[in-house]
Amino acid sequence: MALSHLVAACLLAWLTARGVQKYFSLHDASRLFGACPNAGIVWLHPFRTIATVSAPWFPLKNQTGYYFAKFAFYAKYGSTCISSVTLSGSIPTLWVSDAHAIKTIASLSAIFQKDVEAYEALNIYGPNMVGTEGADWKRHRRVANPAFNEASNAFVWMETVRVMNEWFAEMNAKLTPGASVTIDAVEDLVQLTLLVIASAGFGRRASWQEDATPPPGHTRAFRAAVSTALACLFTRVLTPPWIYALSARVRLPLISPALNETHAAFDALRVHMLDLMSLSRAWVVGGKVADMDAGLLRNLVEANMTETDDAQHKSLTDEEVLSNIFTFLLAGHETSAHSLCFAVGLLALYPDVQQQIFQEASNIWPDGCPTSASASSYKDYMPKLQYTLATFHETMRFFTPVARLCKIVQADAALTGHRFTTEPNGELRDVTPFLVPVKPGSIVILDILALHMNPMYWGSDAADFKPARFIDTETYRWPRDAFFAFSGGARSCIGQRFALTESVCALAMLVRAYEICVPDHLLGKPFEEQKSALLRWKPGVTITPTNCTVRLRRRD
Ligand code: HEM
Ligand SMILES: *[C@@H]1O[C@H](CO)[C@@H](O)[C@H](O)[C@H]1NC(C)=O
Ligand SMILES: *[C@@H]1O[C@H](CO)[C@@H](O)[C@H](O)[C@H]1NC(C)=O
Ligand SMILES: *[C@@H]1O[C@H](CO)[C@@H](O)[C@H](O)[C@H]1NC(C)=O
Ligand SMILES: *[C@@H]1O[C@H](CO)[C@@H](O)[C@H](O)[C@H]1NC(C)=O
Repeated sequence: MALSHLVAACLLAWLTARGVQKYFSLHDASRLFGACPNAGIVWLHPFRTIATVSAPWFPLKNQTGYYFAKFAFYAKYGSTCISSVTLSGSIPTLWVSDAHAIKTIASLSAIFQKDVEAYEALNIYGPNMVGTEGADWKRHRRVANPAFNEASNAFVWMETVRVMNEWFAEMNAKLTPGASVTIDAVEDLVQLTLLVIASAGFGRRASWQEDATPPPGHTRAFRAAVSTALACLFTRVLTPPWIYALSARVRLPLISPALNETHAAFDALRVHMLDLMSLSRAWVVGGKVADMDAGLLRNLVEANMTETDDAQHKSLTDEEVLSNIFTFLLAGHETSAHSLCFAVGLLALYPDVQQQIFQEASNIWPDGCPTSASASSYKDYMPKLQYTLATFHETMRFFTPVARLCKIVQADAALTGHRFTTEPNGELRDVTPFLVPVKPGSIVILDILALHMNPMYWGSDAADFKPARFIDTETYRWPRDAFFAFSGGARSCIGQRFALTESVCALAMLVRAYEICVPDHLLGKPFEEQKSALLRWKPGVTITPTNCTVRLRRRD
């Protein structure tokens, strides 16, 4: 009896000591960012897989880090920078929605380094450009960079025209002119962007209708392999290796079949990617590189074939080539597809915006959509689709696919934040800059969703959908630093121009050929209800539209 009391007392004392210790470490951490208002504890590290997986439900409303709060969180504290502490590890955590501070962070990439641990899910096949830092990252980027040029954008344009026509052909087979069809926009747009990256990036010129059945030597069709691997990504990452080992030997009900499926998906995709690599190698060996318009794959593959003096600067191992293919396939299609999907939803809701895109597209294509494109189409038409581009930018301001980024501070530095008060009409008053000291070991969260809704840059009508705000005039230039959908500085998106080219071309063609309407089940509902239904999304790796169903009416 006495012994158990003693044990209990010791345990209690230990827990109390731990609690007090934790309290003080959280307390110290919370005071690290100078005069920043403090928002308390962040329960889960926002950039660990477990937080990504639970993002649709957690943090809860009113907790620090709640996705849908956007700028309201900063308005509540009257500051563009807010400090907090991440519970696990007592990590001092700074939330930033300030264009000035974000620009500093992006330009000082040696001090504000990428949190590579956040990208473990992408490293399944090995190291790659997205999940590396420092000299390794430079090597990957140096290999891929030359593939992103104006010639490849022209090719992206041509491939988008081809794939859009195939999509139209499939829909029109069921439609007389003037008739309409209801589509799940996200499903079709994922198919579109996957076909474009597979072709323009990797020379895999599949058609819309292909890919229903696995090709010889494969267990799955390419598209099915990509989408199943994506769906299994987190099961794969979150399952400890010993469970895999165990489930391979002992059949665990439910678990074994699920893990088996996960492994099978990644193996099937690996076989597809190895096919791409060997095809490309054969081209390089055969001296036929001039015929290869998929510059990206060629560069990756050549980086493992040519032993040059600067081998360590521009060479990749087999594994790195494979992992980069995987990363580019992923980064290069889901983001664009989701943005396009939100754009389609918005066009159904804002017919006046759609009408202006229709005008712009009709000016360049008076006789209807082009059925094919030449090498000069991109150069001729892209500059003439200013309003379409503005609409896509405005869409990404609201629904930026990558909602937040995380950097780990490596050395002492200072950022500029702003204090303010909010007027009842939404305008900010008394905006005053203040200095935020940051210390090594802290993390900084670039809150892009909030930056994009910050009235300091976008005005008191920041919450209104107005594509024209992205068009410069004699007296107005849209605030470049307050738009961060593609990140910035050395680690900005390598595929930005690729994504804009493909998306502008696709939107202009879609609106030229079809009128986009709200689906029948939402007709007659109040506007706000239609809007919240069509534009509903959930957070995750990229923000994902969940209910974007629209009706397309053939115009011709
Ligand atoms: C609307 C479409 C897109 C958006 C919003 C977008 C956004 C971003 C963002 C925010 C980053 C920085 C990520 C980070 O720091 O962790 C990034 C990086 C990257 N993106 Fe994109 N992206 C898009 C399309 C594309 C496309 C089409 C490609 C490929 C063809 C691509 C390839 C990459 C790669 C390889 C990186 C890593 C760059 C590096 O670390 O040096 N992205 N993208
Ligand atoms: C949550 O926040 C809103 C405003 O941001 C506030 O009106 C509401 O009272 C808060 N709810 C709780 C439970 O704190
Ligand atoms: C996984 O599935 C394959 C075929 O689908 C089967 O041959 C294998 O035995 C399965 N393995 C486990 C551990 O269930
Ligand atoms: C190609 O990859 C292999 C295996 O990963 C590696 O040993 C070799 O050095 C690489 N070649 C070059 C030129 O980097
Ligand atoms: C969104 O879609 C889901 C499933 O498809 C459905 O259950 C839900 O009612 C939809 N929500 C709205 C607001 O339309």
